[in-house]
Amino acid sequence: MTFEETFLADTFWKRPVTLVKGKGAKVWDSNGKEYIDCSCGYGVALLGHCHPKVVEAINRQASRLLTCHGSFYNDAREECLSKLHRIRPDGTDRVFLSSTGAEAVETAIKLSRKFTRKKGFISTVNAYHGKTTGALSLTWASKYREPFMPLLDGVKFAPYGKSEKVRGLIDADTAAVFVEPVQGEGGINVPPRDYLRELREICDDKGVLLVFDEVQSGFGRTGRIWAHQHFGVNPDILCASKALGGGLPIAATFAREDIMASLKRGEHSNTFGGNPIACAACAAAVDALLEDGLVENAREQGEFLMRGLEGIGSSMIREVRGLGLMIGVDMRFETGGIILRCLDGGVIVLEAGKTVLRLLPPLVLCRDDAKAVVETVSNAVLEEERKKKGAR
Ligand SMILES: Cc1ncc(COP(=O)(O)O)c(C=O)c1O
Repeated sequence: MTFEETFLADTFWKRPVTLVKGKGAKVWDSNGKEYIDCSCGYGVALLGHCHPKVVEAINRQASRLLTCHGSFYNDAREECLSKLHRIRPDGTDRVFLSSTGAEAVETAIKLSRKFTRKKGFISTVNAYHGKTTGALSLTWASKYREPFMPLLDGVKFAPYGKSEKVRGLIDADTAAVFVEPVQGEGGINVPPRDYLRELREICDDKGVLLVFDEVQSGFGRTGRIWAHQHFGVNPDILCASKALGGGLPIAATFAREDIMASLKRGEHSNTFGGNPIACAACAAAVDALLEDGLVENAREQGEFLMRGLEGIGSSMIREVRGLGLMIGVDMRFETGGIILRCLDGGVIVLEAGKTVLRLLPPLVLCRDDAKAVVETVSNAVLEEERKKKGAR
């Protein structure tokens, strides 16, 4: 028995593997077995594990200053902000720094309420915005929500991809509409082409803020820096995290100047937001993303993977869908067995809900690794199909 089993809170479903090392698209376990990592720590290691620019920046900063509270200016934070400014979503001019995706969402919730002086929110069916109490209020799955009721008042859920339903739910007390430009945890759902533009029009029409949660879809994952750029609309507020720090915890809530100005000093702050090590890692991650042509690779390898997975030809696959390197394989049964078979075959994949196999490979995935992923997933699906048919 390990301390992870006996001492750590038992709140994660564990895979039977201890990971000890990572490099690029690969990770290794404590027995020396190699895996192609299509989970990337649930989307974090988007630049690949231990990207040399990120590691170097962390090492350099680690011997200079480990912590610096937001009440002091800091050179690493300044550098990080100058990089984030380069990739800030169009229409946003200010950013608040924190450490996790849920914290970025909490910031957006408080900002929306403070700016509009309204309390209600519209979220979407199958949305995932995190598990802190505020973020959980906007998260769809009842298995996550029910044990912790009551959550925030005034949250309504509209079917994802149906803008007119959102219009119908907005009332005089609605502060903001929260939406993932591509749903991640909810099943890798890419919305209809006009959905975000229609939401923008509805929100403008009704005087409601539009918040994009790009914690999972952002930072090059879908073949653009931000997934919403595929759809040609701007948010009022955008939440980012996961890949932003190249592996270290950092989150950013971008907002329009007038919206961010509604938060007065002391009304929203934290201890670790803008931490120098996280900031150094983030600055290097932005450099790597922009200089290494990685965003283009997301499109290329994403198309290759999608075509390969579509070619599996199993009657158990309902649909293969996605954008860039955010890919889902919707199965006719639960995916637990396939995930374990892939692990056995040396490929780490994720679930998204019960029936969707989720692939979030890194932008540094090469063609040979992409081929190996398709082959391993294909074998796992076909073996599982044979097992299911045999059991009937
Ligand atoms: C779209 C989205 N928003 C928010 C979160 C919450 O992020 P964190 O787990 O860092 O709190 C996630 C995490 O998966 C996410 O996918």
